[in-house]
Amino acid sequence: MGRIFVITSGKGGTGKTSSAVNLGAALNSFGEDVIIVDGNLTTPNVGLHFGAPIVPVSLAHVLSGHARIEDSIYEHDSGIKIIPTSLSLKELKRANRRNLENIARKLKRLFRYIIFDSSAGLGEEALSIMRLADEVILVSNPDMPSITDALKTIKIAEELGKPVRGVIVTRVRYDKTELTSENIIDMLEVPILGVIPEEFAVRESLAMKNPVVHTHPKSRSAEKYKEIAAKLVGRNYKAKDYKRGFWAKIASSLGLR
Ligand SMILES: Nc1ncnc2c1ncn2[C@@H]1O[C@H](COP(=O)(O)OP(=O)(O)O)[C@@H](O)[C@H]1O
Ligand SMILES: [Mg+2]
Repeated sequence: MGRIFVITSGKGGTGKTSSAVNLGAALNSFGEDVIIVDGNLTTPNVGLHFGAPIVPVSLAHVLSGHARIEDSIYEHDSGIKIIPTSLSLKELKRANRRNLENIARKLKRLFRYIIFDSSAGLGEEALSIMRLADEVILVSNPDMPSITDALKTIKIAEELGKPVRGVIVTRVRYDKTELTSENIIDMLEVPILGVIPEEFAVRESLAMKNPVVHTHPKSRSAEKYKEIAAKLVGRNYKAKDYKRGFWAKIASSLGLR
């Protein structure tokens, strides 16, 4: 029986989709049986991250009863499987979210790990995906707006009886305006699964339409995403030790990186 991880946050733009695609790509690189599903129905972009923005059959078609789940599965060159969602508003209007439970059940029979990307916020759309979770993974930036929204998300997950595995803190620039890991743990009372730095490689990978784990495998983000992915499934992977150099520290204290 498969296990569903839902990647979520309260605030938008925190790095959810980047995290979903990279955790999936990392698990795939370990040889795990994994699929990434775009649960961001209204503003999907998992397909964009893999260079497949428009596909003939998507999750929206399955939700509207026009296709079978098996027909919405695509295999990327790397071997990772994805289910994108339609960018078409017409198909989206026909989609029936009540079919999600059924789809989740089928996916759990087909795959060992299912990573659902989801939309930001705590509206019905995000909640309908959170309800499918075996484990909820939060993605937050190290600032107050992002953390307070993450806290609300944790409360909702608790109300739904969904275990929160922890938080991935992303886009960290190591400047003094940021909340520290201790601040974040104090406020959220969940473990930090890992810290992903703000890195040009992540933005570049999006332009290259491929996760950073593939495009820049030696970058810190790729290494950290691999470490987090391994932790999620009980594997051992230690990100290469990275010591921030003198100039990097100076640059970050000046807000330059
Ligand atoms: N660690 C990172 N370093 C630099 N840019 C990042 C990082 N993580 C995400 N981004 C960029 O931030 C933007 C939003 O990321 P995305 O993953 O789409 O967030 P969300 O799905 O939460 O809206 C994208 O342009 C992405 O390339
Ligand atoms: Mg997204």
